[in-house]
Amino acid sequence: MEKFKVLITDHIAEEGIKILLDSKDIEVEEKPGISHEELKEIIGNYDAIITRSGTTITADLLENPGKLKIIGRAGVGLDNVDIEAASKKGIIVMNAPTGNTLAATELTMGMMLAAARKIPAAHISLKNGEWNRKKFMGIQLFNKTLGIVGLGRIGSNVAIRAKSFGMKIVAYDPYIKKSKAESLGVTLLDNLEDLLKISDVITFHTPLTKETKNMITKKEIELMKDGVILVNCARGGIINENDLYDALKSGKVFTAAIDVFEKEPPKGNKLLELDNLFVTPHIGANTEEGQKGVAVIIAEQIVNALHGKSYINA
Ligand code: MLT
Repeated sequence: MEKFKVLITDHIAEEGIKILLDSKDIEVEEKPGISHEELKEIIGNYDAIITRSGTTITADLLENPGKLKIIGRAGVGLDNVDIEAASKKGIIVMNAPTGNTLAATELTMGMMLAAARKIPAAHISLKNGEWNRKKFMGIQLFNKTLGIVGLGRIGSNVAIRAKSFGMKIVAYDPYIKKSKAESLGVTLLDNLEDLLKISDVITFHTPLTKETKNMITKKEIELMKDGVILVNCARGGIINENDLYDALKSGKVFTAAIDVFEKEPPKGNKLLELDNLFVTPHIGANTEEGQKGVAVIIAEQIVNALHGKSYINA
């Protein structure tokens, strides 16, 4: 009997690969870092493909999809998959939205603290032989207002943790009910502008869509408090990078902590030159638990879908 073939184009946890192989009728090939051209050539030889954010599945890859039936995303965001092109070819797109929620939540908390206290800059300074305590004056989070844009799984978990810091929490999310926000002790605002005006720290937890791309530009930054702190562990492009650069440079934004970029890796990105911008290389989902979580979920769904059983798709 011919086996199903699954191609994995980014690193995923062993536990997920094991689930695929345990199925006995599934063959797995791992090609992390595969080029777009090679992928285009071979994609049609596989029944399913598993990606993370390192591979972009564009429409041209799906022009001649061969036997490809499933695109599985070991993670939440589907902004790197052309879902419309896939649907036109009858290809199922599925993700693993719950596996790395806490990983992204905990990185956000770390980034918020890093930005409020300039921890990464202080670390570099001391490692470089300086002992400069005056330079690293921070901002206390207690009693400050945290604005959460997007009160889904990650945003809600950030709210729960920020409460324990004694922060007042407001959120903007047109897709959730007031009662959900209330149960979290969060004040749900009717519009983004109000959140921007009253928040001392703003964190973003939305997918990258037509609505959220460039959600924050010069115009929105002008509405913010002077000395606001911005955290983005969601997606590059939600905050316009040029406008963020200007706002950090002028001091309008005190500090920003950013895990995600419009273009990744952000080679030559001028934001990286700024001392009040703290960065990580898109590691929001990178915990042992988070990676195991998404790999297991996506592998189980793919096994089910290949065998005609029910599965959850995006
Ligand atoms: C996600 O959308 O879940 C993350 O960005 C996944 C990743 O790290 O690739």
